[in-house]
Amino acid sequence: MNENKQGRSKRLADRLSNMTSFKVVDFLEAAVAMEAQGRDIVRMEAGEPSFATAPAIAAAAIKALQEEKTNYTPSFGIPELRQAIAGFYMTRYGIKVSPERVVVTTGSSAALGLICDLFINPGDGLLLSDPGYPCNANFVRRAGGEPQLVPVSGDNAYQLTAELVEQYWQPNTIGVMVASPSNPTGEIIDADNQRAINAVVAQRDGVLIMDELYHGLVYDEKETSILEITDNAFVINSFSKYFGMTGWRLGWMVVPEDVLPAVSVMTQNFYISPPSIAQYAALGAFEPGTIEIMDARREEFRQRRDFFVPALRELGFNIPHTPAGAFYVYAGIENLAEDSEAFCWDMLERAGVSFTPGTDFGEYLARQHVRFSYTQPMDRLELAVERLSKALGK
Ligand SMILES: Cc1ncc(COP(=O)(O)O)c(C=O)c1O
Repeated sequence: MNENKQGRSKRLADRLSNMTSFKVVDFLEAAVAMEAQGRDIVRMEAGEPSFATAPAIAAAAIKALQEEKTNYTPSFGIPELRQAIAGFYMTRYGIKVSPERVVVTTGSSAALGLICDLFINPGDGLLLSDPGYPCNANFVRRAGGEPQLVPVSGDNAYQLTAELVEQYWQPNTIGVMVASPSNPTGEIIDADNQRAINAVVAQRDGVLIMDELYHGLVYDEKETSILEITDNAFVINSFSKYFGMTGWRLGWMVVPEDVLPAVSVMTQNFYISPPSIAQYAALGAFEPGTIEIMDARREEFRQRRDFFVPALRELGFNIPHTPAGAFYVYAGIENLAEDSEAFCWDMLERAGVSFTPGTDFGEYLARQHVRFSYTQPMDRLELAVERLSKALGK
């Protein structure tokens, strides 16, 4: 029995050997275990909106269930949802996107992995920001590629620039994958910078993948979609964040027309179709009443940011620039502690506040940063500040 187990773990594929775990889950599990023992924990580790599914979305799901719409759908998603997503680009950004180019996926996670599999040959490199969304490096590794990390810090507003892309481009680099707003920093790439990055990538005949998951959650300005600049980029988006539908596992991508046949080979084989009920539910997301609810939630998130970021600064966290969007703040701890992992475990234990060490998001200055997700209601954020203040002796 034991011998079998040993034999099996020896057989695990090499690609797993350099994949990293998602530390946020370690903190989530520890926080849940402490809660089970009766401790009250302010939960700021996960990137999950604290709001329930909007009524029109839930109603659309119930209707779909009653109508027994539980079969496989077309691999790119139901036509009415692709149409609704395409229409959203017109109402939000004033741009015409053909529904043919919209591919509905099982969460944007499936889309990110699929795009990597689409372009990366063994030995190819893909530029990613460091810090950045941790799973991306593992999607690149799964495809046999090399994640090429580009360090970003408070000095460049925690985002990629065209100059950095030029500087870090290697002979084996095939493109850039970047998120705006970013997880973990909440920082955006403005229209001029997106244009400049696109030009650098196009000059090199590369692939530009823009993760726009946190669009709709930008607080002080209007975000730019890369599709306003070029039809050649790959856009990744999701119902998880702005629409608050994390557990429904539904995302989408907008891809250039010429790759659609190759994409369809992958979607058909890899997951057949996105979940049917989630797709019908998502039709409710585009009703005017739902958009109003989501925009009101954005305002709520803005208020939470405007309370929480200055409060963290008061406690000694270093936040050189107020994050423009998403619901994250990436805070420097150089005035408070030496090591972000030890600091997060200590604060979880002593303050009962759960947040994530920078080491989850990359290597660069990762021991000097932590990420807070300010998705909790205001009274919980106030409690977090009070507890941190006490634990830090402020
Ligand atoms: C930047 C970014 N991209 C993609 C994802 C994956 O989200 P989902 O698969 O729920 O669409 C996340 C999740 O937190 C994220 O932060």
